Amino acid sequence: MNSTETKNELSRREMLITGGKIAAGAAIASMAVLSAVKKSEAYENSGAAVFKYVKLDPQEVGRITYENYFKRWCTSSVIAGFAENLKKKGAAGWNDFPIDAYRWAHGGFAGWGALCGTLPGAGVVIGLVTKDTDVAEAMTNDLAFYYSYTDLPSFTPAKVLKAPIKHMTMSGTPICHISVGKWMRAEGVGFLTNERQERCARVAANVAIEAAGMLNEYHDTGSYKPKHKPLFNVIANGITSQNNCSDCHGQNPPSPRETYESLEK
Ligand code: HEC
Repeated sequence: MNSTETKNELSRREMLITGGKIAAGAAIASMAVLSAVKKSEAYENSGAAVFKYVKLDPQEVGRITYENYFKRWCTSSVIAGFAENLKKKGAAGWNDFPIDAYRWAHGGFAGWGALCGTLPGAGVVIGLVTKDTDVAEAMTNDLAFYYSYTDLPSFTPAKVLKAPIKHMTMSGTPICHISVGKWMRAEGVGFLTNERQERCARVAANVAIEAAGMLNEYHDTGSYKPKHKPLFNVIANGITSQNNCSDCHGQNPPSPRETYESLEK
């Protein structure tokens, strides 16, 4: 044993050696987390009484999103894809919707490369029109899975507005910086290029189309069947996370200090 190991590192290692069996105190702490996670956190969203959703053509939502990207950037372009279509169809609440109120989320929060702005764009619409907050959580969780584990962008515009592009990449994460960085490396272009704008516009269209499919299901059936477990990554990794550990940690990502063995995966 290395004498420089701290007590915390030691107990972490002990946990590993005991094959994931958790010491009594930690087990009680984990149980508290378990019940907090498992207990339904559903609240009713009063906004759903104001903002109505009618069934939309997902391709049309994608087209409007794509076209709006070049003036509004990722977040607001996804919102525009929905808001403009919903307004046209006379759905309540969307007439004067402040589409650009969410523009700051572009570039992963004002260019900080955090969460890809297309996702909060879709999330704003999902959160407004779904009555039960658990439904919105299930949809946004599935949307993050779709974004992370699909080769994107697959959307092909009828009329290319900026530049032809060649590549699709899988990000493994909803993080803007990693997602766009992997694509830029594949395509061999810089960030401030027409090609990169074209890529993000098409990704925005893909995310909008995927979200429209979810909201159409909710509209038709009154419910939504989740494709993935809620809080999947917290449960699987013991920390809020994505599953692309090696992107940042290299080959030896740290083990979480607590594991949630008793949680259903
Ligand atoms: C986007 C980059 C990124 C990704 C992806 C990522 N991490 Fe981290 N993680 C960090 C940074 C930065 C820290 C802060 C500590 C450090 O610098 O090592 C950290 C901290 C942690 C910690 C707490 C530190 C400790 O020693 O207890 C754990 C546990 C951890 N990560 C596990 C994971 C696991 C498991 C994954 C994959 C499921 C993962 N991380 C993916 C960047 C990342």
